[in-house]
Amino acid sequence: MGKRILVTGGAGYIGSHTAVELQNAGYEVIIVDNLSNSNENVIDGIERITGVRPAFERLDCNDKEGMQAVFTKYPGIEGIIHFAASKAVGESVQKPLLYYRNNLVSLLNLLDLMPQFDVKGIVFSSSCTVYGQPDILPVDESAPIKPALSPYGNTKQICEEIINDTIHAGAPFRAILLRYFNPIGAHPSAEIGELPLGVPQNLIPYLTQTAMGIRKELSVFGNDYNTPDGSCIRDYINVVDLAKAHVIAMNRMIERKAADNVEVFNLGTGRGVSVLELINSFERATGVAVPHKIVGRREGDIEQVWANPERANNVLGWTAVESLDDTLASAWRWQEKLRERGIM
Ligand code: UFG
Repeated sequence: MGKRILVTGGAGYIGSHTAVELQNAGYEVIIVDNLSNSNENVIDGIERITGVRPAFERLDCNDKEGMQAVFTKYPGIEGIIHFAASKAVGESVQKPLLYYRNNLVSLLNLLDLMPQFDVKGIVFSSSCTVYGQPDILPVDESAPIKPALSPYGNTKQICEEIINDTIHAGAPFRAILLRYFNPIGAHPSAEIGELPLGVPQNLIPYLTQTAMGIRKELSVFGNDYNTPDGSCIRDYINVVDLAKAHVIAMNRMIERKAADNVEVFNLGTGRGVSVLELINSFERATGVAVPHKIVGRREGDIEQVWANPERANNVLGWTAVESLDDTLASAWRWQEKLRERGIM
């Protein structure tokens, strides 16, 4: 058996793709997920891809005694990848206490338990949201942290600070903070992918559901931004590429190769793509039309952000390799699979 890794939120979108890559790399994966925004059949998908069923515990990371019992049941967990969090920006504005409680208490519990169970390191899911609208693009890790635009974004900033403070106070473990840009796409097998509950808030699930005819048309939020075509620009990164970076980060921590006790890396492609360009790419990659219309701006949207991923490229030896077209085609195959299975 390989080294044991605890993956919180491992039934979720990025968590499930990371569980697959960890298992492919020989790790033994233990998933803790309360299924608040996911489904247990994701575990079946992971098993179908890898041939190995990860251990699964349905549990809320805010339940400290429950988490303690997990560490006791699976002795020798060497690392944690902490995905479990509430992530809807709009909902966080409506329910700030829910977001602060879910996202902060779960991290506090893990950091408390790690020394007790001799866990060597934690990889934390952070976000480019910490940069707000950067003054310099592409944005690198030294850019200033801007005041958060939502309680969700604030929890990512506070969690980064909590980890930094804990380690600087001498905690006997290491941490790597991964700042994701916009993860999209699905596993090439179409066995796992993004499955938002209800009406999608994010661009790609809304787009693929529109292409499928589930939604009438995609609203493009604004074409009067200061960008070449007027629509917002993001750095869309393939979710499998993103997942692979977690395996590299985990290896680095466990093998004590990290230069510092806390390291931070941007995970992006380095390429900015506008909403309108993305729609065109999807139509080109799949041959399927996406009915869309321009509407007003969405409150709180950043105009443009894309990564300088050089630190991850040079230090981790990781680069995003999947093309945008292949990634969009994978998102479409996943949407088709959901239709075949009668899920959507
Ligand atoms: N967009 C549309 N129409 C839609 C949905 C989105 O035009 O129906 C546009 C948005 O305006 C934005 C782009 O598509 O320009 C991407 O929007 P997403 O909602 O997919 O992603 P965001 O960049 O807004 O959000 C991401 C993460 C959040 C994170 C946030 C920080 O999903 O977790 O970045 O800004 F907090």
